[in-house]
Amino acid sequence: MAEPNQPPKKITIMKDGPYVVSGSVPLVKESIVSEGGISTGYEKRGEYPERKTYTLCRCGQTKTPPYCDGTHVRTGFKGDETADRAPFSKRCKVLEGPTLVLYDRQDICARAGHCQQRTGAWTLVKHSHEADKREEAIGVVNSCPAGRLVVKDKDSGEVLEMPLEKEIAVLQHPHKEVSGPLYVRGGIPIVSADGSEYETRNRVTLCRCGASKVKPFCDGSHINTHFRDGDESLKK
Ligand code: FES
Repeated sequence: MAEPNQPPKKITIMKDGPYVVSGSVPLVKESIVSEGGISTGYEKRGEYPERKTYTLCRCGQTKTPPYCDGTHVRTGFKGDETADRAPFSKRCKVLEGPTLVLYDRQDICARAGHCQQRTGAWTLVKHSHEADKREEAIGVVNSCPAGRLVVKDKDSGEVLEMPLEKEIAVLQHPHKEVSGPLYVRGGIPIVSADGSEYETRNRVTLCRCGASKVKPFCDGSHINTHFRDGDESLKK
């Protein structure tokens, strides 16, 4: 709910331009942490100054990351929103385990790698009759920033989603030596350049490298293109 006299938190996509973030959405710096090459969590490395409204780069070319500096105009960035607009539930594979059901939508995978923890989300769900595996499965699924994975309780149908504060994390992915997407948490509405609204979700990742094939969402292309925004946590 919006605070009194505060416009609601929202992300609006500009045609062939940046994301305009309004409603004083907190913006933080985070790195994906890993053990033995497997992503295990996130490390918060700082906060950007509070602003009521700000614009975040979508083309990957800005000299003032994560903010837009207008470079998209000079380079003629084409930011067509090519994401499938169908609701998440209409486009996922379903895996039924003994006590959990896993929903998996591969086209929006940010390749953050948290799903590989333990024996992997899929195997954990298959063994969800074991209490510890069930708990691990829920934790692993909820650490997926892109919202590619969602898990429900098989009996009740309840979505087992951990509540998140509304904020945006600018991700770095040090063990892949690349910069990552914008991790949008807590169900912040995202409005297309055509004025329609995307399905509001607790976890989504937005492309900020310009290379995704499912814009505005990240599809992991930043790893193939070796996108780096100059963050000091990445090796030179
Ligand atoms: S940031 Fe991931 S595809 Fe652009």
